Amino acid sequence: MTTDITYFSKLSLEENLKYNFKRAGKMHIWAHTLQVRHNALNLANKFGISPEQASTAALLHDVSRIFPTSQYLELAQMYDLDILPEEKQLPDLLHQKLSRVIAVETFNITDKEVLNAISCHTTLRAHASKLDKILFLADKLSWDAKDLPKFVPLVIKQLDKSLDDGIYCYLFNLLNNNAPMPIIHPWLKEALQDLTPSLAAS
Ligand SMILES: [Fe+2]
Repeated sequence: MTTDITYFSKLSLEENLKYNFKRAGKMHIWAHTLQVRHNALNLANKFGISPEQASTAALLHDVSRIFPTSQYLELAQMYDLDILPEEKQLPDLLHQKLSRVIAVETFNITDKEVLNAISCHTTLRAHASKLDKILFLADKLSWDAKDLPKFVPLVIKQLDKSLDDGIYCYLFNLLNNNAPMPIIHPWLKEALQDLTPSLAAS
């Protein structure tokens, strides 16, 4: 199993990541990463969040994608991560937790807020921080226009009301109005439940 990511202390985080994505033949993920950073910085500016934290979280959010999906379960076991039944069924869901552990182990990231945002960027979670929420949306809004869910313009409109309105709109439509997902990560449901009491009526 490939577990090595090369880290050069003289290179910036961005240069290190670009080197590793290129070596793995995953430049499409690197292009996505740069788009997520662009979106995250815009949202950070709009909602008063540290651009440094937003940028670091965005650059590292998919670092585990350097490895093939077929290795995610084994890597998660090797790092002794908590593996939920839904993640066992669909190991792709583990990549958010794996990115967090690689950010710590290989890139020496210690900022808990950045690490938490990386580890829930696909599913969000209950009691999410502002940084968690902007990384989640920055990732979701970075897909090619043809792959974006139809309700995205509505989400962007709701973001003019508040970050929580935008998030609620995204989660509600994803879980209620879209084609049913075969496996739903529990954190996604918990994130929506967490926002529902205050925003369901608005
Ligand atoms: Fe991801």
